[in-house]
Amino acid sequence: MTTNFTIRDEIREYWSLRAETFDLQPGHEIFSDREKKAWYALFQKHLGSGADRSVLDLACGTGVISHLLFDLGFKVTGLDWSDAMLAKARAKSKKRNSNIFFLTGDAERTGEDEGSYDVIVMRHLVWTLVDPQTAFAHWFTLLKPGGKLLIVDGDFVRKTPLGKILNALRTGFEKLGGVSKSNKSPAMVETHQRILSQVYFKDGARESDIAAMLEREGFCDIEIQTNLSAINRAQRVHMGFLEGLERLTLNRYAICVSKPLD
Ligand SMILES: C[S@@+](CC[C@H](N)C(=O)[O-])C[C@H]1O[C@@H](n2cnc3c(N)ncnc32)[C@H](O)[C@@H]1O
Repeated sequence: MTTNFTIRDEIREYWSLRAETFDLQPGHEIFSDREKKAWYALFQKHLGSGADRSVLDLACGTGVISHLLFDLGFKVTGLDWSDAMLAKARAKSKKRNSNIFFLTGDAERTGEDEGSYDVIVMRHLVWTLVDPQTAFAHWFTLLKPGGKLLIVDGDFVRKTPLGKILNALRTGFEKLGGVSKSNKSPAMVETHQRILSQVYFKDGARESDIAAMLEREGFCDIEIQTNLSAINRAQRVHMGFLEGLERLTLNRYAICVSKPLD
């Protein structure tokens, strides 16, 4: 029997199933001013203040990052391919009275016009890209000359030695029926693993590899920030003990690059 169900469909379905509880999880939605300030600092450091510049939040999910960018004065468009995620994002925007435009689409081939954005931002998208090199080339065309691309992600596959121990302890604890804040059923964990085994960065999304791929597409002024400890520490407070400790060991990073002016 043949099937047309692709890896892209599987990723979209996985996140649609997670939409309902996504914002309950620390590390996704923001639960303190301390964390909010840490995010503002990261964005301001790399992008400056919004000043009404247009930003595209790729794979915006429930709009957590879109809202931070809106607060900073950007004109925000959030794009995601999961309608369940977008429904949450739109409801949040209505509740907060934020003027953000949300649209359905594939981040790897958005259909947006060339040269239409000052800034492109994404959190936790790159690790799951099916064809990152083509996506990076596409994002280059979407930016205006001098525009900036900011990736916030992590290499969640290659763990530090302490991270491995904490991960094993936490997984064991959850198997014994311990309380987890990750809200992932065993079936979801399995789907996550199956997806990970099929994507380009299945062995981990290393920041140096991503930077080299971006450079190949013509991006310049590459800045890599590997110290996200202010954000990690603020998130940890709202997590279970083991999950919180594990968070401090994750290889998370921000990569900011520019499109040359000419
Ligand atoms: C881990 S969530 C991150 C959501 C949001 N960026 C955040 O940090 O809160 C991943 C999101 O990426 C979306 N996604 C993954 N691949 C995508 C693609 N190729 N096009 C559009 N959305 C995608 C999923 O639907 C999901 O909403």
